[in-house]
Amino acid sequence: MAVAARRDSDELRSLREALGDQHDVALCDVADDEAARRWLDSVTARLGAPDALVHAAGPFFRAAESTADLPAWRRVFADNLFAVVGLAGMVAPAMRARSWGRVVVFGHAGVSTLRPPPTIAGWYAAKAALLAFARALAAENAGHGVTVNCVSPGVIETGGMDAAVFQRMAAQVPGGVAGRPEDVAALVAWLLSEEAAHVTGAEITVAGGWDLPRASYKSG
Ligand SMILES: NC(=O)c1ccc[n+]([C@@H]2O[C@H](COP(=O)([O-])OP(=O)(O)OC[C@H]3O[C@@H](n4cnc5c(N)ncnc54)[C@H](OP(=O)(O)O)[C@@H]3O)[C@@H](O)[C@H]2O)c1
Repeated sequence: MAVAARRDSDELRSLREALGDQHDVALCDVADDEAARRWLDSVTARLGAPDALVHAAGPFFRAAESTADLPAWRRVFADNLFAVVGLAGMVAPAMRARSWGRVVVFGHAGVSTLRPPPTIAGWYAAKAALLAFARALAAENAGHGVTVNCVSPGVIETGGMDAAVFQRMAAQVPGGVAGRPEDVAALVAWLLSEEAAHVTGAEITVAGGWDLPRASYKSG
């Protein structure tokens, strides 16, 4: 297995220790095309061409108005969408040639409703575009043993958000409990398995019902 992250951290160091020398844990900004290519070449030389690509990086920004921060829009599209287009372009041809491959990308639960809160319009738009791209890539590779799926989390405790904002969001999940990273990882592991060979072009939410219409909307 090969893991790339943009910044060194205690989590990355623990992961490197836990995985040991047989795996590759490196620093790489995967939204930088040339750096991503260099990283992938070195991984391929060491471990062979990848069977699977999981892109889980999806940084976020908030702005007072949807048009307030154009540079942040560019960055969020680079991290959430263009990095995936670039990496998929590098790995999919070899997967197709071997008639086996898996691509998993990360969307956002509720994005398919296309009802973006204006304060997160840039990130939401990048996730909507990513879902469209994932479906196009799935269609292109269908019948070649290569599946492409989108995992869409709702409110998951990954520690990246302001604690008060996160608590308010978790309270909106039916049952009042945020999801755990393990809930998402279990789905990703299944999508990478042989059992999921017939699942492609799917968006699967892990949101505990957060993205569903509220029961109180029912008439009567
Ligand atoms: N957590 C949630 O509740 C939630 C909800 C909806 C959707 N999602 C989506 O689910 C995915 C995982 O969530 P998360 O909260 O763990 O996401 P995240 O905050 O984007 O973090 C994932 C990791 O990706 C790294 N990263 C970001 N940009 C990178 C780049 N260009 N190259 C290499 N590494 C990069 C981050 O490192 P840095 O520290 O360097 O940024 C971080 O270690 C994301 O796509 C996110 O948008 C999450």
